[in-house]
Amino acid sequence: MTITPPTDSRLDYESYIRVRDLVSLQKPESSPVVHDEYLFIITHQAYELWFRMMALETKELCREIEQDRLSRFHDSINRLVKIQKLLNQQLDILETMTAHEFNIFRDHLRPASGFQSDQFRLLEMSFGLRKESVLKYFERKKDIHATFLDAQKKPSVFDLWLRYLVRLGFKIPEDVQKRDFSKQYEGSETVQKTILEIYQKRDEYYPLIQAMEAMLDFDETFALWRYRHVLMVQRMIGVHRGTGGSSGFNYLSSTLSLRFFTDLWQVRNLLGTTPYGE
Ligand code: HEM
Repeated sequence: MTITPPTDSRLDYESYIRVRDLVSLQKPESSPVVHDEYLFIITHQAYELWFRMMALETKELCREIEQDRLSRFHDSINRLVKIQKLLNQQLDILETMTAHEFNIFRDHLRPASGFQSDQFRLLEMSFGLRKESVLKYFERKKDIHATFLDAQKKPSVFDLWLRYLVRLGFKIPEDVQKRDFSKQYEGSETVQKTILEIYQKRDEYYPLIQAMEAMLDFDETFALWRYRHVLMVQRMIGVHRGTGGSSGFNYLSSTLSLRFFTDLWQVRNLLGTTPYGE
């Protein structure tokens, strides 16, 4: 079988996907180059590409829910869950590098660290995390700091979800709706009661319940990444300090209880206390 090449050379795989640009972006710091440093760089680059996609998807899902398009919002959350699962699995590949190999080139990448990933931080912010320590860390990087301050003023995905519930006629307290978005939201008992009512009327509110379960899936897969990452860190560097300046394992362990959708988790404490369907 002969495959005829296209006559229009305006666009081809290379110029569309920019493969040459992509494969020229791996610049190891070790000299002579430690082979596994390529694995380390490419893994991080793949993460950043997916973070980019996640940022685009998050923007899209915010637009969808603002326009009351529940099923599209739900689809986008599901896509994020699948990307996050892939990101969790990717650590398996990085863990084929031994701690010994990593420690040969680790000093060369100091003081760089995943801690400084702006895309990761912006994702955390879109989903509602507000961390003073992160803002402080980036104070000297004026442009990123300004972007973070801006991002923190915006309502999170969960705030937009609550606005949607208000439009559907559910009761969400004024002080939650009009809160200062730059402060960490700690959850609200009234919001949890409203969500409980939704969960208790499964037949009536099934699409809402499914969307909230997908949000919880996302929170759970993100938390699993934190867990996988800290285990990998312990495996690679024990309890040594991180290249970014934190205490390493101890610092990362303190982030394991972070959750985006506090009320969705809290409502689990209320489920089962009232009979089903009431
Ligand atoms: C050998 C592999 C890795 C090691 C030993 C490692 C180590 C660390 C350490 C010690 C920290 C704490 C901050 C610091 O003091 O540097 C950290 C934070 C972080 N790393 Fe990694 N890391 C590895 C791979 C990755 C990969 C593949 C990613 C993907 C992007 C990543 C993303 C992050 C992020 C986002 C943080 C900030 C987490 C937070 O503050 O909640 N790391 N890493």
